[in-house]
Amino acid sequence: MTWPGLIETYRDRLDIEPGTTAITLLEGNTPLVPAPTLSALVERQVFLKVEGANPTGSFKDRGMTLAVSKAVAGGARAVVCASTGNTSASAAAYAARAGIEAVVILPAGNVALGKLAQAVRHGAKIVQVAGNFDDALRVVRDMADDRVALVNSVNPDRIEGQQTIAWEVMEALGGAPAVHCLPVGNAGNITAHWKGYQAADAAPVIWGFQAAGAAPIVHGEPIDDPETIATAIRIGHPASWEAAVAARDESGGMIEAVTDDEILAAYDLLASSEGVFCEPASAASVAGLISRRAELPTGSVVCTLTGHGLKDPATAVDESVEIEPVAPEVDAVRASLGW
Ligand code: F0G
Repeated sequence: MTWPGLIETYRDRLDIEPGTTAITLLEGNTPLVPAPTLSALVERQVFLKVEGANPTGSFKDRGMTLAVSKAVAGGARAVVCASTGNTSASAAAYAARAGIEAVVILPAGNVALGKLAQAVRHGAKIVQVAGNFDDALRVVRDMADDRVALVNSVNPDRIEGQQTIAWEVMEALGGAPAVHCLPVGNAGNITAHWKGYQAADAAPVIWGFQAAGAAPIVHGEPIDDPETIATAIRIGHPASWEAAVAARDESGGMIEAVTDDEILAAYDLLASSEGVFCEPASAASVAGLISRRAELPTGSVVCTLTGHGLKDPATAVDESVEIEPVAPEVDAVRASLGW
């Protein structure tokens, strides 16, 4: 059967009026890929939920299909969001599909190039603010009205759609994993994971990870100047703070910090050993799993890889060596390879 997208697949379990037209790019149904290298390292069966396989390359599409469908049904002429990049890419694509306007407010200088490219090509109106994501979110909260829908994860339709990741994992595994690891930024996604599992009467242990320079929940207080190479989660005032803490505590889990070096090591391992290229923020889930592996209960582990590696080509290439051209001859190529 052809995959019809998340709304048609889960319409009976989602909060959406029966007659609402789905604005969809056939998001969801992403691969749950076994990770043999990681499994050997942590001595558990580990699976990667590869959210980079969504139409705009991140998990945001799960919530955006529902948020934009409901906004259009309600008469919205535009959607607005603040974003570290992925939300803006997704909002821009779904708004383009719906034929409405998208306005995206971005922290100047801290959005990865691929994400900016998407917002540009999908025709969003882009405003960069001289501030961080938290400043941008403060601004857009005041811009929404009857005909302008706010599509950040403070919009409950986003969380409602994003919970489908838990249902897909459970269908693929035949039940919940023992532990589910994911990165935490504005904290909507950890909220959505827990909501989805609870709705399915499941309760895996939730392990959330923030970047060490942007770890307000770990420290128990907001941070005004968050800093990390993982720009997607460079957030100091998470909007869904309380729900994230509830997911942690009710599941018997943790929200802890991982350093940028740990994030980059996990990013490298995933790409070079598992063949899965995710963006740096996504690798925080695996960095956390590795650093906390001594505390794992028995049973399987799922790590959500939230976005595609191609979103952030600058970080990817910075990590590589210079590749000097050689003469286009077999001997020269062999010599350069040391063969
Ligand atoms: N991973 C990626 C790749 C993200 O883009 C985000 C959030 C997260 C993890 C964290 O998810 O905020 O629900 O805790 N990106 C938002 C954006 C902030 O604007 O694209 P969260």
